[in-house]
Amino acid sequence: MIEKRFLSINRNINYSTFSSRMNNNRKMSTNYSYKQKENYDDEFEKKTSGITESPWYDEIQQQQPMKFDKLRRNISHSESVDVSIVGGGIVGLSTAYLLSKSGKKVVVFEDGYLCSGETGRTTAHITHALDDRYYNLEKLHGMEGTRLAAESHTSAINMIEAIVNQEHIDCDFERLDGFLFLDPTDTLESLEKELEATHRAGITDTEIISKVSGLSFDTGPCLLFPNQAQFQPLNYLKGLADAILYYGGKIYTETHIQDILAPNEIKTSDGYTTFSKNIVIATNAPIIDKVSKIYDKQQAYRTYVIGARIKKDKIPLGLYWDTGNQNSENTVAPYHYVRIQRHSRKDIDSKYDVLIVGGEDHLTGSIIDDKGIQERYTNLESWTRNRFPIEDIEFQWSGQVLEPKDGIAFIGYNPGNEEKKNIFIATGDSGNGITHGTIAGIILTDLIIHKTNPWVSLYNPSRVPREKSNNSQDSKNIKKKEENNNEQESSSKYKDNKMNKPSFQDLDIDQGIVLEEEKIAAYRDSNNKLKLYSAVCTHLGCTIVWNNSEKSFDCPCHGSRFSAATGNTINGPANKKLDEKKYNNN
Ligand SMILES: Cc1cc2nc3c(=O)[nH]c(=O)nc-3n(C[C@H](O)[C@H](O)[C@H](O)COP(=O)(O)OP(=O)(O)OC[C@H]3O[C@@H](n4cnc5c(N)ncnc54)[C@H](O)[C@@H]3O)c2cc1C
Ligand code: FES
Repeated sequence: MIEKRFLSINRNINYSTFSSRMNNNRKMSTNYSYKQKENYDDEFEKKTSGITESPWYDEIQQQQPMKFDKLRRNISHSESVDVSIVGGGIVGLSTAYLLSKSGKKVVVFEDGYLCSGETGRTTAHITHALDDRYYNLEKLHGMEGTRLAAESHTSAINMIEAIVNQEHIDCDFERLDGFLFLDPTDTLESLEKELEATHRAGITDTEIISKVSGLSFDTGPCLLFPNQAQFQPLNYLKGLADAILYYGGKIYTETHIQDILAPNEIKTSDGYTTFSKNIVIATNAPIIDKVSKIYDKQQAYRTYVIGARIKKDKIPLGLYWDTGNQNSENTVAPYHYVRIQRHSRKDIDSKYDVLIVGGEDHLTGSIIDDKGIQERYTNLESWTRNRFPIEDIEFQWSGQVLEPKDGIAFIGYNPGNEEKKNIFIATGDSGNGITHGTIAGIILTDLIIHKTNPWVSLYNPSRVPREKSNNSQDSKNIKKKEENNNEQESSSKYKDNKMNKPSFQDLDIDQGIVLEEEKIAAYRDSNNKLKLYSAVCTHLGCTIVWNNSEKSFDCPCHGSRFSAATGNTINGPANKKLDEKKYNNN
């Protein structure tokens, strides 16, 4: 049914172009502008959620974005849509696929092009090796909880494989082993605890091996997770989109949903209305949360990734993770995640693959100086060079993950809508969003078609999460941000330090600033036009901060992000753009 349209990493730009681009970038140290090959404007925003680019961006979004019609009319009651889905990432498209296959009339609304959110920035390890560790999850959810978690993630891997086969999706899906090795701050006891916990959870084929053979560094003892998987995520989702259309579903892109008026009405920002029996909010961070306060149950983190050239077959294909820095205060100890994306094109230099390495996570909005962010990439590079025989770095990008406080995603009925039971959310994807997104598709479909599903209560969004012990410091930091929000710290800071107070008039091209006292966010765009916005986050009013690496304004309270070029939201929970301010003297 689905023709083979894309091949792996099918860029028509050769490697030498990439390496010279990177070499230039290294010399520029804190300047990220090499990534801005296109104008950073609202067209760019429809493709991705920042200015850095993943390999999938290069391969798909830039060349042939998944663009459909924009909604330009009302969809009335009489047309009877069974399910409206807001958001075209892995959650939205997996749910739309399963529902339309089951015979439901489904419509997907996406405000950019498909996969312009975090799915376009993923590294796409497909695994039941959960980054929160089974031995931690067991303390919070009990043995039955971890058994259900393991069962659901294993089923998600199998489901993805089955869909790839049934729909003939050419997305480089392959089974491979996963290896969890120790961060220097960790001890063998962690692997032993995890081994036992995975066995109790029903994953009985894990084992501790002395090291991963074939690597150029000694991993030391590892926990082996056999039969995990990886794919090229956007080719998979492109296949899902084709299948949704085939089964009678509809997809509208460039269609921003402004309001959900319970129980049945959806309004677009262009003023069109859709009536629908069921509504699925698949916007990563839910855009309705007044009652659920789901933003209090999870935390937004930035995570960083590099993609480097590596000679083909230099290291064995596998998913590799370390156990993360145990001294960190993050909800999940920031760990390194590593995989290989193969070049399969015959017509370009295929002596190399891309080694993709991620890590260096921090709370969104907690690092605001450019040097601090550049350090994340430098750290990743040196960590990688110390272990893997990589050559030039071809890609560097960052993205956002939402860490649920108790390590399990929130998938099910939207809290506050229990009576009608027709609005659904899926969020708290953690670093396991590809399987969580697929689990969301399975659970939400079962709830909507009234089929019993054993995982419903584990993922119930109405639960009050019990926090892991190392969460408390993170939660305190965020609470402090919320409380300090209205305090005028900035003026005293400049007075005490006798520093010159920065001003937006002096901004260089492509630079932004937040003046805390005046609550103004300013950005001078590539055409030298000064853009001024209110620095008040449109979610709950915290003050946003400047993120130079992605040219965005980010909210340290719950992770909303806004484009510097347009003020539009690029990550929720905020769903309204920044208010524009006028300045007549630029
Ligand atoms: C760098 C990085 C590496 C990762 N690595 C892995 C990994 O190896 N394995 C793994 O399992 N997970 C990984 N994850 C997590 C995983 O990729 C994500 O959890 C997952 O892709 C999120 O999917 P989603 O559908 O929830 O959100 P998204 O993909 O963000 O989709 C939400 C969509 O909703 C749209 N939207 C938002 N608001 C509106 C609105 N009002 N109207 C219309 N549309 C709207 C957005 O434009 C967006 O396209 C990683 C994430 C990152 C950032
Ligand atoms: S994200 Fe909640 S106040 Fe900004």
